Amino acid sequence: MTTLVRNAWYVAAWSSEVDEQLRRFVILEDPVLLFRRTDGRIAALADRCPHRLLPLHKGKRIGDTVQCGYHGLTFDADGKCVRVPGQDKVPTAAYVDAYPVEERHGIVWIWMGDKERADPATIFSLPQFDDAAWHMHHGGALHIKSNYLNVAENLVDPAHVSFVHPTTLGNSASENVPVHISTDGDAIVAWRWIRNSEPIGFFKAFGGFTGNVDRWHYYYLHLPCTAYIDFGSADAGLEIAEDERDRGNRVFALHFLTPVDENYTIDRWMHLRNTAIDTEEASVKIDRMFEIAFSEDKEILEAVHAEEQRPKKRRPIRIAIDRGPMVYRKRIAEMLERERTEDASAPGNGAYVFHD
Ligand code: FES
Ligand SMILES: [Fe+2]
Repeated sequence: MTTLVRNAWYVAAWSSEVDEQLRRFVILEDPVLLFRRTDGRIAALADRCPHRLLPLHKGKRIGDTVQCGYHGLTFDADGKCVRVPGQDKVPTAAYVDAYPVEERHGIVWIWMGDKERADPATIFSLPQFDDAAWHMHHGGALHIKSNYLNVAENLVDPAHVSFVHPTTLGNSASENVPVHISTDGDAIVAWRWIRNSEPIGFFKAFGGFTGNVDRWHYYYLHLPCTAYIDFGSADAGLEIAEDERDRGNRVFALHFLTPVDENYTIDRWMHLRNTAIDTEEASVKIDRMFEIAFSEDKEILEAVHAEEQRPKKRRPIRIAIDRGPMVYRKRIAEMLERERTEDASAPGNGAYVFHD
C-alpha cells in the first residue's frame, strides 16, 4: 500500500535548479518536467508524451512550447497540444498534465494531488523569511535511500542528536534530558532545553561562548513533509526564558522532504539565522557542519530502511521519545485513508493529541 500523500505542497526543486533547459524531476513516483518560461515563471508538466510516452525532456523547447523528440507533437506550458505534425486535427486526448507550481524565497513548490484542492495560502512559510534581522541561506540536497516516513520522523526526534551527531549538533550532556511534545497545533513539536551545560560543537564555532550555555532544540514537523529545527544557545548567566530565544544565537534548520518513490527521498535543507547575518563565510561553515551531521543521518536512515525490507518476526518496540514519530505516522495514515476514500477535505478525527 502506498505511503505517499498526494494532496499536499511539496518542494520540487530550489529555484536555482530550474532554468530554460528541460529538466526531469521525479516526485511521488511521477516524472515531472520543469522549465522556466520566457517570462520567468516555471512550467511543470508530466514528463511523458501522451503519444508513445517518450519523456518530454528528451525533446526540445521552441519558445514556451515543448516539441516531443519522437514525432514532434508540441505542447504549450499548460500542457495543451498545439501541433500534431502531418494533420490539422488535434485529438482531444493529446494533452499533458500540468501541475500547479509556486515559487517563493528561492523554493519551488508543486502540488501533485487534485488540482482543485491546491491552495497557495497553505504553503509553508515563516515570518523570518522576510525579516531583515535574519539571514537566509539555501544549503544542499541530501539523497537518501529510505522511505520518507523514516526521514520525517528523524526530524521530530531530538533524542537522536546525542548519539548520531556527537561532534556537531549534540553532546552527552543531553542524553538523559526528557523530550517534551505538543501535537495540538498545525505541527508536531518536540523540544527540550539543556540548561547550564557545555556548548555543542556548532555553537563553539559560531557563538564564541567561553562558559556554559542554555541550549534548546525545538523540532517542528508540518505534515506531510516539511520540518524545521529551531536550535540555539545563550549564555547560561542570562537565564533566558523559553520564549526569549531571540536573545541567544538562534538557527532554524529547514528540511523539505520530497518523496521520489517509496524507497528514495530527497531532503533539501537550508537555514535561517539571527547571528553572523552579514557574512557568507558563516553560511559556508554552517553548511559544512550540516553536511557532516546530515551524512550521519543518511547512514542511519538507509540502514534502517534496508532492515525494514527484510522479514520481521517482531514489531519494533516503542519508548517514551517515540510519541512525536508515533503521532506523525498515525496522522499520515489518516491522510492516506482520506485520500483513499476520496474524502480528502474531511477533518482528522482529532485523536492522538499529546500535550506536556
Ligand atoms: S512519442 Fe511524442 S510525438 Fe510520438
Ligand atoms: Fe539528525
